[in-house]
Amino acid sequence: MRSLTAALALLLASSCQGFVAPSHNSHQIITTTTPSSTQLKKQPLSRLSVATDINAVGAPGTADLPWSELGFEFRPTKSHLRMTYRDGKWQEPEMVESPYINVHIGATALHYGQACFEGLKAFAHEDGSVNLFRPDENAKRINRSGHRVMMPEIPVETFIKACNDVVKDNVAYVPPYGSGGALYLRPLLFGSGPRIGLQPAEEYTFIVMVIPVGDYYKGGLAAPVNGLIVDDYDRAAPKGVGAAKVAGNYAADLIPNMAAKKKGFPICLYLDAATHTLVEEFSTSNFIGIDNENKKYITPKSDSVLPSITNKSLQTLAKDEGMTVEQRDIEVAELSTFDEVIACGTAVVVTPIGSLTRFDGNGEESKYQFTEDVGETTRRLYDTVRNIQNGEIEDTHNWNYKVE
Ligand SMILES: *Cc1c(COP(=O)(O)O)cnc(C)c1O
Ligand SMILES: *[C@@H]1O[C@H](CO)[C@@H](O)[C@H](O)[C@H]1NC(C)=O
Ligand SMILES: *[C@@H]1O[C@H](CO)[C@@H](O)[C@H](O)[C@H]1NC(C)=O
Repeated sequence: MRSLTAALALLLASSCQGFVAPSHNSHQIITTTTPSSTQLKKQPLSRLSVATDINAVGAPGTADLPWSELGFEFRPTKSHLRMTYRDGKWQEPEMVESPYINVHIGATALHYGQACFEGLKAFAHEDGSVNLFRPDENAKRINRSGHRVMMPEIPVETFIKACNDVVKDNVAYVPPYGSGGALYLRPLLFGSGPRIGLQPAEEYTFIVMVIPVGDYYKGGLAAPVNGLIVDDYDRAAPKGVGAAKVAGNYAADLIPNMAAKKKGFPICLYLDAATHTLVEEFSTSNFIGIDNENKKYITPKSDSVLPSITNKSLQTLAKDEGMTVEQRDIEVAELSTFDEVIACGTAVVVTPIGSLTRFDGNGEESKYQFTEDVGETTRRLYDTVRNIQNGEIEDTHNWNYKVE
């Protein structure tokens, strides 16, 4: 149990800083958990075969990789996409095989954090097709994030085509259908031109790198983890940059994150910076509270929370099954009324939260306890979104974008 928690802590740490986190082997986690209904449906990996019906994109999963052992860490692939903004316009994109980039020492991204990023996944379906999950949402969001730190707009179609093309060029690295893994796409936009006085750069670089990642919950959703309510630090100020996926937000979260882990809490929950009375979000994932008796899905309303696409998707699925979705202020004291609490984001989809602990100034501890095992609503929402991503149930909301 202890090692499971430790391993999950690493997983959470790496979920957004995948390429800087210490490497780990996530399949240790997977083997200790109980199988879920989705898992039982899957074929054993040894019987998996690459789809013979090769479409125009080529067959996913032909690279020589241990598909059942992938974690969430950097792995080399064939290429990344690169596009430069110069002389007031975007130049033609290109595929680059080297994972290194030559950047001016005065680049605004390096000095002033003029940078933002995205995270999305591509999944292989049983018919051999490869599908991006809601790339239009990431396109809109990178535009909003970029706008907040004065970077040029990437047209939505250009962004989606970039994602499409980089997946196509790396199709061999898309984990095969049935492995539960995905190709994680990490679009990154940053000021690459030099500026020393505070002004936006004149040159920008957009890249989309890809990494094959494993299924966190191969053995079924892992047991809930214990979270810590952070009082010594804030993630985002009320009119700051919390709602933008800018690089600097993540550096600010390192100390509180590592401190919480040292105390035995793999995940941190931040409160509103102004009053520390309202729930905002976890370090790198949104907060969802479930009230099963009243069939409610409750998520905070705040301008300093990053609008998660997973949260948006789960909200839609919750409404589909007749739940009421409330987006409103959540007082810390209200935590005691939730049956299930979920942290949600692209990397793991959902992390069930077992408890949340808060230490007051005098070292007094208050603890909010939720379900001991994975909650029924958490499991249902997770299964539904994963089944849509895998092409196993009807995609009624048109969330899958087929790579061509
Ligand atoms: C990226 C991110 C999330 C999760 O968003 P998804 O679109 O669901 O991946 C949540 N919180 C923060 C702070 C984030 O940066
Ligand atoms: C990009 O974001 C800005 C600021 O939010 C908005 O005004 C503009 O309409 C957006 N463009 C697209 C294509 O979404
Ligand atoms: C959940 O997602 C929606 C839609 O993206 C967002 O508007 C809302 O603020 C989110 N709630 C949070 C962060 O808890």
